[in-house]
Amino acid sequence: MDLWGLTTLILLAGVLLLIFLSQWSQGLKRGKLPPGPTPLPFLGNILQLDLKDMTASFSQLAEKYGPIYTLYFGSQRIVVLHGYKIVKEALIDQGDAFADRGSIPIFDDVIKKKGVAFGDGESWKQVRRFSLMTLRNFGMGKRSIEERVQEEAQCLVEELRKTKCKPTDPISILACAPCNVICSILFHDRFKYNDEKFMHLLKLLNENFQLLNSRWAQLYNFLPGFRLFLPGIYKMHFKIVEELKHFILERVKEHQKVLHPTNPQDFIDCYLSKMQQEKDNPHSEFDLENLVMTGVNLFVAGTETTSSTLRYGLLFILKHPEIQAKIHEEIDRMIGHNRAPSIKDRQDMPYMDAVVHEVQRFANIAPLNLAHAVTRDIHLQQYFLPKGTTIFPLLFPILFDSKEFPNPERFDPKHFLDKNGKFKKSDYFMPFSIGKRSCLGEGLARMELFLFFTTILQNFTLKSVGDPNEIRINSKEVRITNIPPFYELCFLPR
Ligand code: HEM
Repeated sequence: MDLWGLTTLILLAGVLLLIFLSQWSQGLKRGKLPPGPTPLPFLGNILQLDLKDMTASFSQLAEKYGPIYTLYFGSQRIVVLHGYKIVKEALIDQGDAFADRGSIPIFDDVIKKKGVAFGDGESWKQVRRFSLMTLRNFGMGKRSIEERVQEEAQCLVEELRKTKCKPTDPISILACAPCNVICSILFHDRFKYNDEKFMHLLKLLNENFQLLNSRWAQLYNFLPGFRLFLPGIYKMHFKIVEELKHFILERVKEHQKVLHPTNPQDFIDCYLSKMQQEKDNPHSEFDLENLVMTGVNLFVAGTETTSSTLRYGLLFILKHPEIQAKIHEEIDRMIGHNRAPSIKDRQDMPYMDAVVHEVQRFANIAPLNLAHAVTRDIHLQQYFLPKGTTIFPLLFPILFDSKEFPNPERFDPKHFLDKNGKFKKSDYFMPFSIGKRSCLGEGLARMELFLFFTTILQNFTLKSVGDPNEIRINSKEVRITNIPPFYELCFLPR
């Protein structure tokens, strides 16, 4: 390294050290931050975490410091909430104060607080309220969201039939269905499963998911000071998001040409109508940039999460033939084979309902949740959290709480059944998180999971390729999300 390079490096290190010391001493002066391990300059507590299995590290720290503790990712302060009581106290009892999205450097750099998932303040509030209303079916033409999901469930079954009982990796087929549901909601159209444009879209979404779950993205996010040295991650994420934005912008332009504000058919129509209604309001939050980024959010948040849950679910059922037999018995008794399942059936199918809940609990798709931030200086229990502090309200300790779910490490639908076989609700069921920032697609995802699982099992018996006892169900590594392991299975028509 030449002298110039060395001087720059020393200066950079000096600046980072100053930022770190100033943040740390601020915390110490107030003296009321939650306890936590002593951080190292530049690195914070990163060396105390097992980056391959963050859940284990977070639990060990909770044993030592209790349900609320402070960590440093580089110089960034993080307050971790571990367990049902403290997460509820924060996200529900003080919901408004915990409603900001926490800093996730890779998203901050590329998405820049636009759209519904990473926006904050008034813009986020308005776009979230509008999106929730639209997803609840208000004003999207005659076809209900349930009909759109039912139609897709039938297409999914047709595709699975084409596998002709041969061992099949379900990854691609199971990704198409939830992605098509988002297409139908956003722009009132669906793609054939072999459509080239659709394949490309799915590839982008999958690459994005893999990238965000990679070790490099973890370093980018957990050591923000070092992101200058990881330009490749930024470039890759930027490129994927730009392509997704372009895909949605094309659809928006088509809609603008033929917009009938009085008869909106899909999310984009509804949004464009809203833009027209607000055209004289100089402070309107409904601009094109927010629409495009919200569309990207719905694709990214709504495709891989649901398809990974479907993949996990089939794997768990495959491993437990006795559970599959009970599901078949209930479907045959309550629905039969001559009509498509509907969401109304759920109330009469406690076993299936319990299976779907248990799949979501056990799949634990978003173990760490998404980061939140506090909107103002606040107190939580005896501690002080300064405005802007990043919060990790972890979900896995709640989903695997051994007092609520005896034998939490076992896949067992009885976790959601009472002794009479009736469905039993649990406040600890929170794979979608809770509070003001909870998953916007919860209603849709729960409808999809019930209808897709029920329709698949109405039509097929799942058969494993080898001995079901040998099936491995755990992810190799747990980073931002849990990804199901590779497996194959046969779909035998019933
Ligand atoms: C099994 C499927 C799904 C799971 C497990 C899941 C889980 C989550 C979780 C844990 C969060 C973070 C909540 C928080 O910050 O407290 C979230 C946020 C979000 N999800 Fe989902 N999700 C699923 C499906 C969907 C679907 C189908 C959609 C699309 C319609 C969607 C759209 C979103 C959006 C837009 C956010 C950001 C909300 C905000 O910041 O206000 N999700 N989801």
